[in-house]
Amino acid sequence: MLPVNVDQRVLGYLGRALSLELSAVQLYSTQAKLVEAWGLAEVAGKLSAEAGEELAHAERIISRMLALGAAPNASQLRPVQLGRNLQELLQANHAFESEVVSLYEAATRHSARVGDHDSRLFFEALHAEEKEHARHMLDWLQELQDVDTTVST
Ligand SMILES: [Fe+2]
Ligand SMILES: [Fe+2]
Repeated sequence: MLPVNVDQRVLGYLGRALSLELSAVQLYSTQAKLVEAWGLAEVAGKLSAEAGEELAHAERIISRMLALGAAPNASQLRPVQLGRNLQELLQANHAFESEVVSLYEAATRHSARVGDHDSRLFFEALHAEEKEHARHMLDWLQELQDVDTTVST
């Protein structure tokens, strides 16, 4: 592999990001199967699509690491947090996505500080997508709560 002169902490952020993105694949794939068992086929399809998006993020990071001459090194998959109902799953998902947003925010800031323009753009794009993703989980949760309120009033 070609050695590229790259800041070690940028590589550290890429490794942590890969661990989180692969954890997200595991999380959403598991939830898709779980809600399928609950009889929520449509929700299962949505969560399965989320897993696919997270895999695409993981692949972008892998490509980036290879381009920098580094071997992908995700070291820890986060254990899946289960729940008793869809609301609990979505709450856990929002917390997880918020953590991913914070990581990309820090990675973007660091890349800017060390003058690594390409890494800054790379992390910035993922940061924007994950921010959108966290918001999506919150909107979904809100919709569920609205439905609950309509049913109970
Ligand atoms: Fe992601
Ligand atoms: Fe995400």
